Amino acid sequence: MIRRKILVTGGAGFIGGNFVQFMVNKYPQYDIYNLDLLTYAGDLTKHRDIEDKENYHFVKADIADRDTIISLFEKEKFDYVVHFAAESHVDRSITDPEIFVRTNVMGTQVLLDAAKQIGIAKFVHVSTDEVYGQLDFDPSSFFTEETPLQPNSPYSASKASSDLIVRAYHETYGLPINITRCSNNYGPYHFPEKLIPLTISRVLNDQKIPVYGDGKNIRDWLHVFDHCAAIDLVLHEGISGEVYNVGGHNERTNLEVVQTIIQTLGKSEELIEFVTDRLGHDKRYAIDPTKLEQLGWKPTYTFETGIAQTIQWYLENKEWWESIISGEYQDYFEMQYSLN
Ligand code: NAD
Ligand code: DAU
Repeated sequence: MIRRKILVTGGAGFIGGNFVQFMVNKYPQYDIYNLDLLTYAGDLTKHRDIEDKENYHFVKADIADRDTIISLFEKEKFDYVVHFAAESHVDRSITDPEIFVRTNVMGTQVLLDAAKQIGIAKFVHVSTDEVYGQLDFDPSSFFTEETPLQPNSPYSASKASSDLIVRAYHETYGLPINITRCSNNYGPYHFPEKLIPLTISRVLNDQKIPVYGDGKNIRDWLHVFDHCAAIDLVLHEGISGEVYNVGGHNERTNLEVVQTIIQTLGKSEELIEFVTDRLGHDKRYAIDPTKLEQLGWKPTYTFETGIAQTIQWYLENKEWWESIISGEYQDYFEMQYSLN
């Protein structure tokens, strides 16, 4: 049995948190180190079921804190790094871009230096389809790994910058890397500032749902469990230096997503309120996942099965999201929207 030490950054957040649970349960022979600063988006209560397991470890640290990160790598000698930690919300990047550059760009570079210093087997950088910019509404156009990077928001620009630095460490220093670029995720523990959990939590509280612009922007939704399986595959089987797009052909307009949730919960569409559009709002994202499928990945959820599972999860885990929306999140919501 091969023992491995895997550092997962951002493992207290939405996708990183699901990935940590997936890996701790799937690979008892791997030691999973969850490194997270516990910003507003990170919480450890989600790990109650695994926190006592022998192969789970937590480290509170800032990825941009060079001395701490280098010492940690020298002490633990990780085999793999899977890097999720980031500022991830587009709207926050529009009001406060600086932290996005610090965490997403500078933080990634610190991790790369530490990985290079000790010599690791693989660094998987979890990126986003937003680095490709936007597509028009022609349903036959998709993002492939060859699509030029053309990010439009401060968030996506910071992610594209980090992708380029990761690539450069492979080309210049031979660091074994992969970059994954995934479409919009949804599922358990999705922070309620994002469209799907925001809609579910507000519909359940009979509150208005803010839909930006005309609601016709399109996103390509992927269940987070399918994303976790994709990253596991890329970590173990991905060819070093390669980029892999992750998506499952689940395009929906924002209005369709909101209507589906309202209908499933048996509420009225009068809850929908069209509000001022997001600045620089990308029209459409859609992934061509052929390259990853050729590596052996296939999603298990359709949008219909995934959204049903997700709504059920939010119904059964009210305590988790209610504790978030009753805290400092309320101040953010009031600043961002002017709704009841
Ligand atoms: P999230 O905001 O839910 O979680 C981010 C985590 O990173 C939090 O736990 C936070 O505490 C931690 N973090 C932030 N700054 C840190 C720092 N300086 N040091 C250490 N930890 C820090 O994000 P998410 O939605 O789970 O996204 C995870 C990754 O996946 C991001 O890199 C994001 O760009 C990418 N991604 C997200 C989606 C999506 O739909 N959510 C899709 C594609 C790619
Ligand atoms: O495509 C991958 C990206 O998906 C990730 O890289 C990001 O980290 C993640 O946050 C997500 O970005 P989006 O901006 O697409 O997700 P968000 O949930 O913020 O918005 C989804 C769509 O819904 C988008 O077109 C804006 C719209 N929207 C969003 C909010 C929060 C609304 O209409 N109203 C809202 O209140």
